[in-house]
Amino acid sequence: MKEIILNHPMIEHKISILRSKTTSTKEFRELISEIATILCLEALKDAPLKEIEVETPITKTKGHIIDENDYAFVPILRAGLGMVDGVLTLMPNAKIGHIGLYRNEETLEPVEYYCKLPKHIEDKTVIVLDPMLATGGSGSAAITMLKKRGVKKIKFLCVIAAPVGIKKIQEDHPDVSIYVAKLDEKLNDIGYIVPGLGDAGDRIFGTK
Ligand code: PRP
Ligand code: URA
Repeated sequence: MKEIILNHPMIEHKISILRSKTTSTKEFRELISEIATILCLEALKDAPLKEIEVETPITKTKGHIIDENDYAFVPILRAGLGMVDGVLTLMPNAKIGHIGLYRNEETLEPVEYYCKLPKHIEDKTVIVLDPMLATGGSGSAAITMLKKRGVKKIKFLCVIAAPVGIKKIQEDHPDVSIYVAKLDEKLNDIGYIVPGLGDAGDRIFGTK
């Protein structure tokens, strides 16, 4: 599949405020949520439409709707939670699963601690949410967990990605499309994205 990098002045604007270390927790949360909405809009470009009949005050006409039952969002805890409100703005009835993963700070390997998914997840298109794609270890592990549970259609949304993270997902899961708001330069020697925005989970939840 492919990676889709959003290229829009509004994204540049929002990401620049998001990066600043002086941005408040409140504004940081709001921006993550707004960018998630924009990413989700892009990811739904290929959503199948069902034809319906609509009666306007003037006449009857054909309309087209998306079946929200066909979709589930799965944030990777913790930071992915910050994207949930933003995607629900578009699809308020979609089901939500949760995958708990954290990076071991020394090895940078993902450690799995939680997985709770909606019923019939194997029949849905699952949209994975995580603002940061660094080494790609967490994203790839989350996708593997979904595939083990029978999920066949997966999309991955992230706010900032490092090239190595995109490469890892593409190598491990060539069937998954990745939607990225901003592609950054690289990782530093402790696995943080440069220039990045620091630790997304800590900034969303104000834990540091
Ligand atoms: C962050 C982020 C991703 C992961 C990305 O989570 O939200 O899940 O790191 O790094 P990777 O691509 O190298 O795996 P973190 O492990 O800090 O957990 P947290 O959200 O609970 O703070
Ligand atoms: N996780 C984060 O929250 N930030 C990074 O830069 C890398 C991983």
